[in-house]
Amino acid sequence: MKDKPKVLFVCLGNICRSPMAHGIAEANYADRFSIIDSAGTSGYHIGEPPDRGMQKTARGHGFDISNQQSRQVEDADFYEFDYIFAMDGSNLESLQSKHFKLGNATALVERYLDEGDVPDPYYGGQDGFERCYKIIEDGMTALLERLDKK
Ligand code: 4NP
Repeated sequence: MKDKPKVLFVCLGNICRSPMAHGIAEANYADRFSIIDSAGTSGYHIGEPPDRGMQKTARGHGFDISNQQSRQVEDADFYEFDYIFAMDGSNLESLQSKHFKLGNATALVERYLDEGDVPDPYYGGQDGFERCYKIIEDGMTALLERLDKK
């Protein structure tokens, strides 16, 4: 059997999308991964908990993400993790350029969704958070199927 992968979920601020993916993975799919973490390409919100709207959405679906703290992606992540999953194309570009710079880094950098972006809910209302949850939850099932085929 294959080793369980170490995965890092990445968005821009690490207060909305990637904390939600991190929380869903821990709550529902912990047996599928050996390490689950999340980070942001930016340092805008370092040390902050997830956005309150995202915390509320998680609570509504029966899990708690309030103890997470935003951190920025660091070079060591590209050696520590097996996969780094980007929530949108801009996050992906930023990760790929860092990965390229590091040369022999071992992580595989991929989009979270097979196609397209997980839209940034930061400037939307509570509906946006709920939609975002659904996209990430559905995407997690697809991502696990993708990993099974590797
Ligand atoms: P996230 O959302 O990348 O899903 O955490 C954002 C959070 C903060 C900002 C942008 C997106 N911001 O510009 O501060």
